[in-house]
Amino acid sequence: MATSVTDRLADLETIRRVTDLRARVAAWRQDGLSVGLVPTMGALHEGHFSLVRKSVAAMDRTIVTLFVNPRQFGPNEDFGTYPRTEEADAAALQRQGAQVLFAPNVEEMYPAGAVTTVSVPGIGDILEGSFRPGFFTGVATVVSKLLIQAAPDVAYFGKKDYQQLCVITRMAADLDLPVKIEGCPIIREADGLALSSRNVYLSPDERAKAPMLHQALNDVAAKVRAGGVEAIADAEAAGAEAILKAGFKQVDYVTVRDAANLAPITDVMKPARILTAAWLGRTRLIDNIPLHD
Ligand code: PAF
Repeated sequence: MATSVTDRLADLETIRRVTDLRARVAAWRQDGLSVGLVPTMGALHEGHFSLVRKSVAAMDRTIVTLFVNPRQFGPNEDFGTYPRTEEADAAALQRQGAQVLFAPNVEEMYPAGAVTTVSVPGIGDILEGSFRPGFFTGVATVVSKLLIQAAPDVAYFGKKDYQQLCVITRMAADLDLPVKIEGCPIIREADGLALSSRNVYLSPDERAKAPMLHQALNDVAAKVRAGGVEAIADAEAAGAEAILKAGFKQVDYVTVRDAANLAPITDVMKPARILTAAWLGRTRLIDNIPLHD
């Protein structure tokens, strides 16, 4: 059912309890309204807002979730220091036209005794999954809970976390969750750096070096497009070398993969994705691009 512009600009409601979220969605459903969901960990930036705008444009109602999910952080990762900016996030979401901010606390999401997890073997074990053990089980667990709690028609995820999008798509299909998972374009700074909540960790010097990651991906793509499958190994190695030369401390991977299942490719004419993860000082950046535009 279509809603008026005034309706869309109505006040943002912050909900902290699952039962209240369910009641709000049930009331919307009674009125025949469609619902979009944008899961986030907060510290919102233009990348998140682009997802919110997609939902607001296509759906009658938009829920944005804000939950820094402890289960997707490893013991030596940045759960404690992850930027938390709820007040600013809420104000921005109101301007973007979302109706609900669902911001539960850890006890609400994982009440005492909650032990069930959702894991996505295979695609969840490679690349990010091998460098961050448990990460995708944490992501799949929290996202499946959010999808069950909010029961949206469509859930929006950025392609910046491309493997995450693949894992969630697989998980939603495998669990027969009645939701469309929509992948949305990466939003970049003018110099090519992909927007990320973790970019705030970069020093001015690191920030100046960071766009090289995107540049390296473009160079790998050009080499593979020109040289075919035989050029992949050299292109990946040259990409890693260029990233290190730009001042990154360590490259976890630069790799050309099948766009759907992230397996190594044997045919460069099929949809493929080039993915990388690398450390710039103490910040781990990830990025990816399609092999073909
Ligand atoms: O991409 C993120 O911000 C998180 O991994 C997500 C999907 C909100 C799950 O916590």
